[in-house]
Amino acid sequence: MKRQPVGVEIFDRIADKYDSISGFLSLGIIKRWQRKLVEGLEKPGKVLDLACGTGQVAALVKEKAELVVGLDYSLPMLRVAKTKYPHLFWVRGDALKTPFRDGEFDTVLVSLGLRHFENVEGGLKEIRRVLKKGGTARILEVSVPRNPMLKSTFIAFLKYVLLPLGKIRSKEDVSRHLFETIIAFPHYEEFIELARKLGFKSGKFRPLMMGMAAVYELEG
Ligand SMILES: C[S@@+](CC[C@H](N)C(=O)[O-])C[C@H]1O[C@@H](n2cnc3c(N)ncnc32)[C@H](O)[C@@H]1O
Repeated sequence: MKRQPVGVEIFDRIADKYDSISGFLSLGIIKRWQRKLVEGLEKPGKVLDLACGTGQVAALVKEKAELVVGLDYSLPMLRVAKTKYPHLFWVRGDALKTPFRDGEFDTVLVSLGLRHFENVEGGLKEIRRVLKKGGTARILEVSVPRNPMLKSTFIAFLKYVLLPLGKIRSKEDVSRHLFETIIAFPHYEEFIELARKLGFKSGKFRPLMMGMAAVYELEG
């Protein structure tokens, strides 16, 4: 396996604290977004939770799915997932080059993972490849609100709170990565357009919390 990308290193460092950080610091918002991601998936069949982290999303679909496989690059995150859910399947691997066959999954879920990949296009291509024809990919990602006032407040928060905080706590690379990946991610229609170019049949999105995040649904 190649050298650890920065979008993985960060999670290696905080794996043991990830669940409490995402639950407590986000005031439960992330959990609510994750529930929106899986909402209405009645018979998801064989599910891949890509960039599964500590398995929070896999756990939300495990009762309804035929089978759930979680894949992540970070071994410490996977260790937490395996401790919490020893009966699910956990695979260490790169989301840009997974070990799965073409069309292996009915559903692919990516929760707050895609923007951390070294290459969003590569991630989408791989999702398309492992997804069955007619299958569903759902992607949850942070986005920049469209409303001009909210947008400038959100960007100011990232620039003047998140970045300096990172510097103070000598985790500048982490906050810089978080900031840059949010800004660079192709939001809303741009994302759907990119997915269609890469071979998805159709796509739609649903903004969450005034556009601070979105759930994208793509048909394979
Ligand atoms: C913000 S966490 C999200 C974890 C989980 N999906 C959730 O919703 O709690 C992002 C995850 O993406 C994983 N990741 C980043 N780049 C990856 C890659 N190229 N291949 C596999 N996993 C990757 C990280 O290791 C991390 O666990």
